[in-house]
Amino acid sequence: MNHEYMLIEGPTRLQGEVTLEGAKNAVLVIMASLILTDGKSRLTNVPVSSDVFQMIKLLQDLGAEVLFDIPNKTLDVDTTKLHPAAVSPEIMQKMRASILVMGPLLARFGKASVALPGGCLLGARPIDLHLRAFANMGAHIEVKGEYLDLTAARLTPQRFVLEYPSVGATENIMMAAIGTLGQTIIINAAIEPEVLDLIIVLQKMGADIQLEVPGTIIINGVSHLKPIQHMIVPDRLEAGTLLLAAAVTKGSIAIPDAPAHYMEIFLDKLQEMGHCVTVSATGGITLVATETPRAVSFKTMPYPGFPTDLQAPMMVAQCLAQGSSTIYETVFENRLVQVRELQKMGAQITVDGPLIAHCKGVDLLFGARVIAPDIRASAALVIAGLAAQGQTIMTGLHHFRRGYTRLEEKLNSLGARITIVTE
Ligand code: UD1
Repeated sequence: MNHEYMLIEGPTRLQGEVTLEGAKNAVLVIMASLILTDGKSRLTNVPVSSDVFQMIKLLQDLGAEVLFDIPNKTLDVDTTKLHPAAVSPEIMQKMRASILVMGPLLARFGKASVALPGGCLLGARPIDLHLRAFANMGAHIEVKGEYLDLTAARLTPQRFVLEYPSVGATENIMMAAIGTLGQTIIINAAIEPEVLDLIIVLQKMGADIQLEVPGTIIINGVSHLKPIQHMIVPDRLEAGTLLLAAAVTKGSIAIPDAPAHYMEIFLDKLQEMGHCVTVSATGGITLVATETPRAVSFKTMPYPGFPTDLQAPMMVAQCLAQGSSTIYETVFENRLVQVRELQKMGAQITVDGPLIAHCKGVDLLFGARVIAPDIRASAALVIAGLAAQGQTIMTGLHHFRRGYTRLEEKLNSLGARITIVTE
């Protein structure tokens, strides 16, 4: 098998304008939601990430006809011949978001069979909130070998108070409840922009679903849903990654199609560091980096708090800022995986348990051989490589490709020197 790595030559100063891809976390659940409909739907602004290809494979295994026009980022999905086949362990292991087909399969067919997600259900990243909700709606849940089988002759509407505003659980409940007779209420629901994009899609399908501020979703079941056309919301996480790449290289960047209204706390933090951030009337963002960034502490939280998916890239900015900062990861238990790799590049970070990191800013990072441990950590290492002195060699590119569409080409268009090497 070929050995592949990314070679980043630093330091560089990024400068210029880029546009965004559609949000990976929105498109995956929206693709799953098409299971609810019977017919031909079209999604545009679809990112070409490897997770999208996994979701295409999953839908095809269920009998969907899928055509992905990659140059035009358009995905046509025909769900006429859909059947509730089992989601294989191969797909589930590659993409945990496969659990998002449980709700729509239950709603449309009264049954769903998915391979158990990696790890113990009660351990890290459990799906207990999803399963408890389905059980409350009347689903029978059984573990059969490596599969989780769910059946429900008829799902019943419920009032849910989520003990945590889980993105996936909120999405699965909404999709399961859409065809029930009566009203479902989700209190303390997740309201991430990608959840809101799903709500818009469900409304286009004909669902009676409303969001009440601050986090209550009300769904009145309907008997028929129709296929849709939808443009995926721009990726706020890609926008944040690009802004941080410009910030740590002391450059400047314009992202005219950025969704600034979904990025408020993140942008506030960049300004607190001393960067000049300007937002246009349509939400486009321009950043001119300060030469002397100040370290800022932050804590990840469900939306509208600081996004956990930007914690790793933001950590790089703290490692290169003046002063010390503390980062609190409150959303996931195992999301400081980039620390070890950044330390190899000269970052001064100490961890205090699995959820807290202290960073002491240094003037320079140094290129090193690093391994991308997950999607967002891979983006952090690329950003660090851009600012570092010398060559950074990053392996584990499959993580990077799960989350980003040719991000290296975009960075190169801004002045980065990144090459993908295959040996
Ligand atoms: C989604 C995003 C991911 C993002 C996360 C938080 C997708 C495909 N992925 O993941 O990029 O980082 O939201 O914004 O959209 N939890 C439970 N029990 C459950 C469900 C979740 O304990 O049944 C816990 C998780 O272990 C985690 C926390 O809740 O600690 C947040 O998870 P959740 O909001 O569900 O994230 P995902 O939907 O998995």
